Amino acid sequence: MPKHYITFRDLSLDEYNHIFSRAKKLKAERLRGQYLRPHLGGRPIGLFFAKPSTRTRVSFDCAIRELGGHPVIMNISETQFSRGEPISHSARVLSRYLSALVIRTFLESELRDLARHSTMPIVNALTNEQHPCQVLADLFTFVERLDGRPLEKQQVAFIGDGHNMANTWLEAAAVFGFGLALACPEGYDPDADILRRTMNDNPRVRLLRSPAEAAAGAGAVNTDVFASMDQAAEAEKRLKDFRGFQVTAEIMAKAAPGAIFMHCLPAHPGEEVTEEVLESPASVIFDEAENRLHAQKALLEYLVPPL
Ligand code: CP
Ligand code: NVA
Repeated sequence: MPKHYITFRDLSLDEYNHIFSRAKKLKAERLRGQYLRPHLGGRPIGLFFAKPSTRTRVSFDCAIRELGGHPVIMNISETQFSRGEPISHSARVLSRYLSALVIRTFLESELRDLARHSTMPIVNALTNEQHPCQVLADLFTFVERLDGRPLEKQQVAFIGDGHNMANTWLEAAAVFGFGLALACPEGYDPDADILRRTMNDNPRVRLLRSPAEAAAGAGAVNTDVFASMDQAAEAEKRLKDFRGFQVTAEIMAKAAPGAIFMHCLPAHPGEEVTEEVLESPASVIFDEAENRLHAQKALLEYLVPPL
């Protein structure tokens, strides 16, 4: 049975610690100019996109090549997925060619269908419900900044939409045990099942309505766009509904001394976060983007064992 990575909870704390330590090593090697490792032995990895992407596409493409594999990029409109070929067929066909499939689509259920019929690992590159590869890189970034201080003792704030990023931070709080305060406008809460399960497992998880309260004492303050890729039609309404949920310098001032600001990007400066915060010394947004590459190399190395 291949090991899939569909939700953040698909890996354990031990597995994450292993991946972080590999990512740290791979990052140091790359910074010394040592890009290539023969791990994948020429094997092809599929990169499938049903939504736009910059970071995920490029970081996985580089990661696969640097691990000695080659990426096969598919945009949905150029495939038979767009004409309704059964997922169970696509999964079995692609399993005959590829050693793993990294996929960005709409519904997590599509990934589960693929996984059910696939003999290769399926990696979630963002769905409406989750974005585990992003939070993997975000946590690696936070751990780097903590420089040996324990992650589980930290308090994290998430301000904004209870969508894929918020859901994934919830699952991460369940795995790692850190405190998480979410501030979401009424009607924009995270997935109810994920919230309930996480609150059961981690009593330090809170859902609030006040961004200032959520930020209080946090070592990391996170946000996400008001309207995600699957919510473009609601963008105007959301701008109104999310009034008061912008991460500003005043909100950052409530956080712990030395707190970092995090955003998965792409950002809409002046909407969910001010330009001032994005460009402030607290902002680690480009480290998060860079760390997608290192963390995903370590993830692929783990999910696709050596030949
Ligand atoms: N953060 C992120 O996943 O970016 P892309 O949409 O550019 O891949
Ligand atoms: N919540 C955003 C994340 C983009 C990386 C979206 O789904 O569009």
